Amino acid sequence: MCGIVGYVGPRAPLDVLIPGLRRLEYRGYDSAGVGVVVDGRVAVVKKEGPLQRLEAALEGSGLDGAPAAAGAVCTGLGHTRWATHGRPSDENAHPHTNEDGTLAVVHNGIIENDAELRRELEVRGHVFRSETDTEVVAHLVEEFYGPGGAAEGDLAAAVRLALRRLKGAYAFVIISAREPGRIVVVRQSSPLIIGLGEGEAFAASGIPALLPYTRRMIALNDGEMADLRPDRVVITTFDGTPVRHEPFTVDWNEEQAEKGGFPHFMLKEIHEQPEVWRQTLRRRLLEDGTVDVTETGLMGGPAAVVRRIAIAACGTAYHAGLVGKTLFERWARIPVDADLASEFRYRDPLVGPDTLTIVISQSGETADTLAAMRAAKERGSRTLAIVNVVGSTIAREADAVFYTHAGPEIAVASTKAYTTQILALALLALAFARERGTLDGAQARALGRELQRLPVLAEAALAAEPAVRAHARRLAQHEDVFFIGRGLDYAAAMEAQLKLKEISYIHAEAYAAGELKHGTLALVTDGVPVVAIATQPPLLDKTISNIREVQARGAWVIGVATSGEGRVGGVPVGGGAGVGAAAAASGKTAAAVAGTAASGAAVNAAAEADWAPTAPALSGVVEDVIAVPATHPFLQPVLTAIPLQLLAYYAAVERGHNVDKPRNLAKSVTVE
Ligand code: F6R
Repeated sequence: MCGIVGYVGPRAPLDVLIPGLRRLEYRGYDSAGVGVVVDGRVAVVKKEGPLQRLEAALEGSGLDGAPAAAGAVCTGLGHTRWATHGRPSDENAHPHTNEDGTLAVVHNGIIENDAELRRELEVRGHVFRSETDTEVVAHLVEEFYGPGGAAEGDLAAAVRLALRRLKGAYAFVIISAREPGRIVVVRQSSPLIIGLGEGEAFAASGIPALLPYTRRMIALNDGEMADLRPDRVVITTFDGTPVRHEPFTVDWNEEQAEKGGFPHFMLKEIHEQPEVWRQTLRRRLLEDGTVDVTETGLMGGPAAVVRRIAIAACGTAYHAGLVGKTLFERWARIPVDADLASEFRYRDPLVGPDTLTIVISQSGETADTLAAMRAAKERGSRTLAIVNVVGSTIAREADAVFYTHAGPEIAVASTKAYTTQILALALLALAFARERGTLDGAQARALGRELQRLPVLAEAALAAEPAVRAHARRLAQHEDVFFIGRGLDYAAAMEAQLKLKEISYIHAEAYAAGELKHGTLALVTDGVPVVAIATQPPLLDKTISNIREVQARGAWVIGVATSGEGRVGGVPVGGGAGVGAAAAASGKTAAAVAGTAASGAAVNAAAEADWAPTAPALSGVVEDVIAVPATHPFLQPVLTAIPLQLLAYYAAVERGHNVDKPRNLAKSVTVE
């Protein structure tokens, strides 16, 4: 989620690099840097903090503002960093160079095998100056590019050889003072755009950076690299096979460009979820489904002796915590209390050395959450923070941090941060379950593999957008909406109602479906909208009874149910014609079938690995159904969130509100 800009051509490079980085600022960053080829080396200036600090450092550096001599070709690159590996600091800011400073690289994404490569390169005499994975790229390329290297003096060939060793998801730009007038750019699962000018070429991680200079662009695909010179661009696959790309012309205005073509950041961030989920899971979920969260320092001892978990968070993050409570209790069999941080801090919480306190915060700055964490620490509890913003106060003060890697979230209403918080909790709960022996290896790996499927299922969930939009139009005409559900569907309902009310200003309430009849049912009258979330097979019959209850009072019900593939006996079923459909046809609900399969699962809920889509059971009960791809019921809230985020978004748009900046709300709540 960092920003990359590269330039080769006749302009003074800072005239392209600094404005380019500024146009990527909206993505968020914690440090910035540039590198320019001058006098046989790459002159690098980089600073922690906002771009102004970099600009101040550039003043009088000799790089600032000097127009290139007529006919000269300039080469440079720039970067805004959003820390993932290593804290935000001058040293960790990009660009990173080889030892003699003749080669420089800026990078987005993660090099997964950096530790292994770093060790290898250190043995070969390379000295590292930063904590980043990026620096490995500079040293590795130098191995092939430097004197006696297998691709001596040919940057593109050296990069190609280095790519064979790199694992992970990355985009990078690399330049060399030994070959001024040349930039090599690479893309593997992280965006990289090439801009084509007259006698100049550009590269960037996002279109907005390039708009003032050119509108003719090429978007590299995964596994492609490009060799840019002022007068030609050569694109190949990593193994050197030439690739032809037809340039496209961008007709976005500036504002659209910032939002990646979406009308609002919120919609952009909803759509980013498949990509950022991959980031959250990367490195922590091995190919066979094994979870690795050793980064928390809680494995190999602490997790096994924890007697209780206390979760404290605010707003949406608290709703993620409610899902986490179920995951820890059912998979790892640890008692969990989930509290609003603003309540936890004042209730003299019973936490101590046998308790792990987990705080959850996108910003890492929320005052109540920070205070809750401090209160837990004072009582001797170990603290683990699930945080998005690297280097934030909560991240710094917690005993252990688990970053969600969702990238900057700009819209005030949290979307991708919430779903990545749930993924983080799922990873941790699975790791705890293994450590404590409450799930065996095969069960945990099966669940891990289901986690791996989620990004693809998220893409399918986004396909419901047009249908959801139609429901939102109708919903926007109302002033009161109820969201009901049971179990994890109730947790999902809590988040859905918050999303709707904070941006559409429609009054919304979440109710545990079974609780309605104890009072609130009095408010359900003719035409009142009720969004009934019914994704949990074992609870489906009960939820359907509650749907009938509100229908009997005249409610307009929108059902949210699962479709697609389920699993029974470890075998995929569904796609509309599996157990769910068959069960519906036979008059039995999918829940009854899944419930039978799950009935022996008293010891551990993980044995409930059988489930069937629930949508078929709603047919004939509810006219309006939003279908969500089915996954393991415990992971379902993460997918269910997507159409409900879209429902809130389109209701707010319909009402003409400022979706990204709702009234009375701030992105980071640093006051009590
Ligand atoms: C709602 C929302 C808020 C935040 C809450 C906590 O969409 O974004 O409810 O979840 O203010 O913020 P963080 O996660 O930064 O601690």
